[in-house]
Amino acid sequence: MNNQTLNPSIEWDAELYDSKHAFVSQLGASLIQLLSPQKGERILDLGCGTGHLTQQIAATEATVLGIDSAETMIEQARKNYPTLQFVVEDATNLPFQEEFDAVFSNAVLHWIKQPELVVSSIWRSLKPGGRFVAEFGGKGNVQAITTAIHNVLHSADYATAAFNPWYFPSIGEYSAILEKQGFELTFATLFARPTPLEGEQGMQNWLQMFAKSLFSIVPTEEQSRFMAQIEAELRPQLYQDGKWLVNYKRIQVRAIKP
Ligand code: BEZ
Repeated sequence: MNNQTLNPSIEWDAELYDSKHAFVSQLGASLIQLLSPQKGERILDLGCGTGHLTQQIAATEATVLGIDSAETMIEQARKNYPTLQFVVEDATNLPFQEEFDAVFSNAVLHWIKQPELVVSSIWRSLKPGGRFVAEFGGKGNVQAITTAIHNVLHSADYATAAFNPWYFPSIGEYSAILEKQGFELTFATLFARPTPLEGEQGMQNWLQMFAKSLFSIVPTEEQSRFMAQIEAELRPQLYQDGKWLVNYKRIQVRAIKP
C-alpha cells in the first residue's frame, strides 16, 4: 500500500488489498515521477504494502528497501517480488541513520496520527541533501464517507470519534511540521482525485478494507446491516453511471533535508 505503518491496531487483508484495491498502487505510479529515482540511489519505500511501487522504483536501477508495519503486507510483498528486500518496521521509529538518498511514501501517512514522529524518523533516515516525496489523504479526503459512517453509527448511539483512524491535514499544517523539522519544502499541492471502485460491491469492499476500526465498536453480527445503511446514504452522492466514485483528496509533497 502503501498502507504502511499503518495503524498497528488495524489488521490488513493483503489479498483483498491486491485483488480489489489495486488502484492504490496504480494511482501512486505518477508519484514515482516526482521522486525521479536515479540509478544507484538508495531509496526507502515507507509503507510499501504488497510491494508494487517498490518494484517500479527498483526497475529504475535504484536500490530499494520496502518497509511496512503490517506483517501480512510484507509477507505478500516478498511473495510478489522475491528478489526485492522488504522488512517490517514502524514508521514512527525507524532504525536508519543517514542511509537513504530518498524516502518515498504513497497512501500511507494518513494512517499515522503522530506525524511529527514520522517526519523526524524520515529526517534521521535521510542523508544530508536527501529528499522526501509523499502522497497521502489531505483535508476533506473521503468526506462524504466519513460523514455517512458517523451519521449512521451515531444514530445508533455509537460514538465514533475515538476510533477515527485517519489523519488528513491541510497543506499548511503539514508544511509547518516539515519546516519545523528543518526540511525545505520544494513542492506541495492538495488536489481532488475522484477514484472509481471496482464493481457494484465496491463501497462494501472499501468499507471492509479501510474503515474496519470504525466498525470495531459494533457487534460483528450487526456490522453488515450498518454497512448497508451507509452504502444507501452514499449512493445518491457517489454512485454514478453504474460505478462507485470515491471523493479522494490528496496531498503531494517534496521536501529536501539540507
Ligand atoms: C486514501 O488513500 O486517501 C484513503 C484510503 C483509505 C481510507 C482513507 C483514505
